[in-house]
Amino acid sequence: MDIKAELNLRIQEVNSILEGYLPESTGFQKNLIDAMNYSVMGPGKRLRPIMMQETYKLFGGKGKVVEPFMAAMEMIHSYSLVHDDLPAMDDDELRRGRKTTHVVYGEAMAILAGDGLLTYAFETAVKAFDIEPENKGIPKALAVLSRDAGVYGMAGGQSVDVELTGKRLDKDTLDFIYKLKTGALIEASMVIGALLAGASEDDIIKVSKAAEAIGLAFQIRDDILDVTGDADVLGKPVLSDEKNDKTTYVTFEGLDKSEADVKALSKQAIDILEGFSGESKFLVALTNMLIDREK
Ligand code: IPE
Ligand code: IPE
Ligand code: MG
Ligand code: MG
Ligand code: MG
Repeated sequence: MDIKAELNLRIQEVNSILEGYLPESTGFQKNLIDAMNYSVMGPGKRLRPIMMQETYKLFGGKGKVVEPFMAAMEMIHSYSLVHDDLPAMDDDELRRGRKTTHVVYGEAMAILAGDGLLTYAFETAVKAFDIEPENKGIPKALAVLSRDAGVYGMAGGQSVDVELTGKRLDKDTLDFIYKLKTGALIEASMVIGALLAGASEDDIIKVSKAAEAIGLAFQIRDDILDVTGDADVLGKPVLSDEKNDKTTYVTFEGLDKSEADVKALSKQAIDILEGFSGESKFLVALTNMLIDREK
């Protein structure tokens, strides 16, 4: 499989789904809507919606019910990036190869764009009921989406990340932060795909485990790239963690162990994915590709 070419097709598909669901740039609040759309439509990798759709297919999903959830997930992820880049948080000025939302639209509008995207994500996700009113996975998927975005998910992880910036951390705290700030949305993406396709409870547990490993590997690789990456390729600044005096996986374990752990975690995830009877080739290839991604 030519994973790069396949991935580009999937990115285009996600972009057209997003365009269909984003709010129209009109009305007195046009500036807010423009800030929301600017953040989402920057050239992101779209990994979370792609993984959601692929997990949906893995368990036999064939409809369009997953699409509003794919859009919702990318809105929530984009909001997390807008807020993560704010001066009060990581204070970064480059994202997805462009100026960050607060640099272009001002801080107040960036805060509101985050609020707008988070809320609009749920307004979007509930449209799944219009597509498949009988699908029993939809309420469960909404529960997962809200939990994993919030205090027991991404926002909770970000709060501990911010609070402990500049402080010494132990490994358990670092794992907690990564599992929540990054792992939660990746896990939610795959679990939502499985739920909407009607996967069994056993399979959902296995999907969660695979996604948890992928999420942790993803954030460790992000930390590695903050040190070894190239801002032009990454589309975001390097050495942001050092600037903010963050304890990361790399400062904690060193580069070699970090790289080894990314591989080991990805292998764990692949073993689970290959154990499913459905078609997992694309997810396996994607997980492999993420091990040494440069962006
Ligand atoms: C960046 O996520 C934030 C982290 C959780 C490390 P991505 O690397 O998926 O960012 P985009 O969506 O491609 O911009
Ligand atoms: C990302 O952590 C966590 C989020 C929920 C946005 P980072 O702060 O390391 O992400 P980047 O490196 O800015 O994308
Ligand atoms: Mg951060
Ligand atoms: Mg950051
Ligand atoms: Mg980072």
